[in-house]
Amino acid sequence: MSSIKIKIKKENREKIVEICNRFHNNPGELINVLHQTQDFLGYLPAEAQEVVAEQLNIPTAKVYGVVSFYSFFSMIPKGKYPISVCMGTACYVRGAEKVLDEFKNILKIKVGETDASGKFSLASLRCVGACGLAPVALIGSKVYGRLAPDDIKKIISEYDDCECNK
Ligand code: FES
Repeated sequence: MSSIKIKIKKENREKIVEICNRFHNNPGELINVLHQTQDFLGYLPAEAQEVVAEQLNIPTAKVYGVVSFYSFFSMIPKGKYPISVCMGTACYVRGAEKVLDEFKNILKIKVGETDASGKFSLASLRCVGACGLAPVALIGSKVYGRLAPDDIKKIISEYDDCECNK
């Protein structure tokens, strides 16, 4: 019997248990379990990691280690407009790093963070399959291609409740 206090909602806990059961509580399926849990919750809060650890019968530190190692996992809720900058090879060689830096400068957040207003979060991804448009960024499901750092402020301004326009 675990003494861990679970603060996430009961129904969310049940759903995570169900996801673990789908993978037969197999520790070798940890990454798949975490993917599906993140798809469901939108992120992987500590309490969710504890449920996964408990179900898969592995230390919470191991789950935390995996979540923090892979950039596609996030421990914080995404913003209303999640921004993902592709850092795959084609995008990288066409200047994705400068594009990413410009998002960081304008929003004043790092990769993996959400801004104070909760509107924007920033992530970097591997190839999103639109290499012909490199460098590429996504805001939600909208794709922006052939980006240059100078484009970023204008793109963010499309989300007209953005503070950076004021
Ligand atoms: S490398 Fe960026 S879309 Fe393929």
